Order: sequence, then structure tokens, then C-alpha cells
Amino acid sequence: MEKVRDMAPGQERMTSDQEFPLGLTFDDVLLVPRRSGATSRRQIDTASRLTRQIEMAIPIVSANMDAVTESEIAIAVARVGGIGIIHRFLSIERQVAEVRRVKRAESVVLARPYTFGPERTVREALEFMEEHGSAGLLIVDAGGELLGLVTARDVVFEDDLDRPLTAVMTPRERLVTASPGITQEEARQVLHRHRVEKLPLVNGEGRLAGLITSRDILNRMKYPNATKDGEGRLRVGAAVGIRGDYLERAAALVEEDVDVLVLDVAHGHTEAALQALERLREAHPHTSLVAGNVATAEGTRDLIERGADAVKVGVGPGSTCTTRIVTGAGVPQLTAIIECARVAADRDVPIIADGGIRNSGDLTKALAAGASSTMLGNLLAGTEESPGALIIRNGRQYKAFRGMASLWASARRQALDAPVEDEDLSQIVAEGVEATVPYRGKAVDVLVQLIGGLRSGMSYCGARTIRDMWTQAQFMRVTPAGMKESMPRDVEPA
Ligand code: XMP
Repeated sequence: MEKVRDMAPGQERMTSDQEFPLGLTFDDVLLVPRRSGATSRRQIDTASRLTRQIEMAIPIVSANMDAVTESEIAIAVARVGGIGIIHRFLSIERQVAEVRRVKRAESVVLARPYTFGPERTVREALEFMEEHGSAGLLIVDAGGELLGLVTARDVVFEDDLDRPLTAVMTPRERLVTASPGITQEEARQVLHRHRVEKLPLVNGEGRLAGLITSRDILNRMKYPNATKDGEGRLRVGAAVGIRGDYLERAAALVEEDVDVLVLDVAHGHTEAALQALERLREAHPHTSLVAGNVATAEGTRDLIERGADAVKVGVGPGSTCTTRIVTGAGVPQLTAIIECARVAADRDVPIIADGGIRNSGDLTKALAAGASSTMLGNLLAGTEESPGALIIRNGRQYKAFRGMASLWASARRQALDAPVEDEDLSQIVAEGVEATVPYRGKAVDVLVQLIGGLRSGMSYCGARTIRDMWTQAQFMRVTPAGMKESMPRDVEPA
């Protein structure tokens, strides 16, 4: 019988004196202060790109984790200039509904406002408003002709839930309407003159052609840096996996005008992930595609060759990750970003630094290392808008947070990918933990602090833009003593 060889011909075993490459992470380095030409923080521009096609005013992406990103936080983050990626641990219908909520949260003209037929009841309107977070319904007949408007005020205190909406609506003749060609400024004046909040647009035949709301106009004034699509709607992304219903899911999300699909897999440099990426690219040639996660130059190159418009970098740095402990695999995050950004820059593809960012210093270092944006889990999980449950412990407020490869999250994902009866939890090898994080208040306040710190950090690097940082920033390695010196010490807590 032929002897089984344990090494292929020409292959050599490693030796113990072999040189291993050095991997560095955020705490291993500091940014060297350099001469800055900026005289005010306002001259510093934090604009960047998420993908080849999508620009953002701030380089922040909220993570596709089930305790971090659903519609509420995606709206909050997009308003201040970043973007949220809706997680995929939901049925297709629910994930699509979350995307819809973001896309409908704001627009110049809402092209397809929610409508109900005249025969529908108060009960149905209340249920719909509750489910869709909507405060108004336009009543139209079968031919699309506008008959009236029902707002929450018309229905919340109604005793007879079976009344038809025609009995409670403001009828067409008492509504202020405009023609579809109205400009934004004219619409603002009409809303003000009549002291109304909704301006339905009606064409020459009396058919509904859109809706302008005072809330949209106010939001545009309040959030001038919001990340928006060509129709003035907030941008949003959504994650898909590489198995099961991922193609069907992606198609439904694209149908709902999702701005970017994120191929979400812990080890993105596998044949299965590359094939899934190729299929998504083929099926959606005009949709921005983010792929990951990888931590090497080869992984980045392979994803870009299969059609990624941005590459998500990070294997194991996340705050809830145990991948490196369970598998022994990973690359310290700063080195991973530098290596991946080097090959991505040649191909003009942005890098998203995903995981391990604990403060604005880490954020600045990740961008200086070559990332175009940063994905945040932990820092946003504690915000009011995150979907995690609020927990009170010893009088303090926390929010539930967990790794997406933690035991229960993995069980849920497996059930979604390939439903099985009587799942055996002992077969699941978890690579993440379940935890809580301190409650941090509104996302906008957390983001203001992070971006303020980033602006200062950019100024210390002598950079006015993120692109400048890639060439201007100088890292210095520090010892554990150097890092200890960076922390507050020898003082009592206030
Ligand atoms: P932070 O540090 O911001 O990181 O909380 C968020 C990123 O962590 C990754 N992630 C995981 N990685 N096991 C892992 O190895 C997990 O269970 C897990 N859950 C999330 C993910 O890339 C996320 O964006």
C-alpha cells in the first residue's frame, strides 16, 4: 500500500526560529503631532466614502448587529452624515420593512405616500399607523383620486373603531394641495401660510402625485449633512448572508431601494463567500456591494476582484468577539487595516474598519491607517435608538448587547438560514459573547463627541481631510509604559 505523506513535495515545516510578521493594534501606537495649517476645527473636513459610489459627511457606519442597527438608529446615524446597516437576523419581510422605514423617514417629495381606500376603517388605520410608525394616511379611490386625509389626531380618540375613514377624514375640498411642479421654497411658504403640516400633490386629473411634509422641510434645515440618495431620502444599507435565502433577501431589499448590500460573514475569504459575492454582483450590477470580513491583502484583493465596492476589515477585534480565542485566528486590527488599505487604494476601493473602536482616538487611528470609514458596534449599542433591551441593574441603566456569533444569536441565525426541528445547541461553537453596555443617551450626542475628537485628531496629524491623513499621519509604536502614560492616573475619581 502507498505510504500517506503528511507534506506535499516541496513543502517545508515551519521552524521555531522563523521570523513571524508583527501585528499591531490601536493601543500599540500613537499619532505623532505634526504642524497643522488649520486655524479652526471647522476647516477640517470629515467627509469620506462608504463604497465606490456612496459619499458620507462623517465616516461612521452602525454595525449590522441585532442589538445595534434597525431603522431607528439607522435614521439617527444617517441624519448626522453616516449610515446604518440593518442586520439580517430578521425575516425578509421584517428586514425590508426596516429599510422602508428609513427610506420613508425623510424626502423632498414622498413619491408614494401611504394610502388607504375609502371603505377602510378607523381600526385598520390605527393598526397601520402603529405598525409603520406613520402619522398620516391619504384616502384615495380605486383610480388614485385623492378623497381626503386622515391623521393620528382624527383616529386616536375615536370610540367607534368600525367607522369608515370617510367619516373621520378631512375631505379633499378642505385640504390644502399643490401641483407636482411646486418648488421646495413655494411648498414651505404654502405650509406656513395655511399652518398645515402636510401638502398632498395632486395632478390635473385630481390624482395623488406625492406628498410634502413640514417635518421633511424642518429636518432638511436641521440636518444639512444627512446622507441622502438622489430623491432626498436617507440612505440605508442591509446585510445578507451567503446561504439559504440570501439571493431572495437581496432582491427584496433592492426592490425596496436599499442603498447598499453588505455581505455579512465572519470569514469572508472563503470559496463560499466569494461565490456568494459573485452571484450578488451578477444579480445586482447597479447596487453598491460591501463584502467582508477579511484581514489580509489577499482577502481584500479577492473580494475586489469578485466585485466588492468596499471591503470590510476585521477578524476578531470586536468587543464581543471570541473568534481569536476559539479559533486562534485573526490579525491585530491596525495592521489588518494597513495591509488591506494598501491593496484597496490601488483599486480605488474604500476600506471599512470594523470592530474594536472604543473611542475617538481609535477611530482616528483606524482612518489614519487607511480606512475610509469605521463600523461601530459597542459604541452605538448603548444608545437610546439601538434595539437592545434597556436593563436596570443596581440603579444604573444598561442595554443588552451580544456578538452575532454568540450562542443564542448563532442559534437564531441557523434557524433562519436552514430551519431545523429540535436544534441541538451543544453543536454550536460560539465565537462571541452576550453582554450589556452602559446606556449612553441619544446617538447624536455620542456621534458629536466622536466626530469632535476625530476633528482634533486630524488636526494633530496636520490633515484637513481623511485623504490627507493617509499620507500625512505618522504612527509611533509605544511601549505598555507609553500607553499607561496616556491614561488619566494619580488622581481620585471626581
Ligand atoms: P465593536 O468592537 O464595535 O465591533 O463592538 C463590532 C463588530 O464586531 C464583529 N462581531 C463579532 N465578531 N464574534 C466575532 O468574532 C461575534 O459574535 C461578533 N459579533 C459581532 C462584527 O464585525 C461587528 O461589526
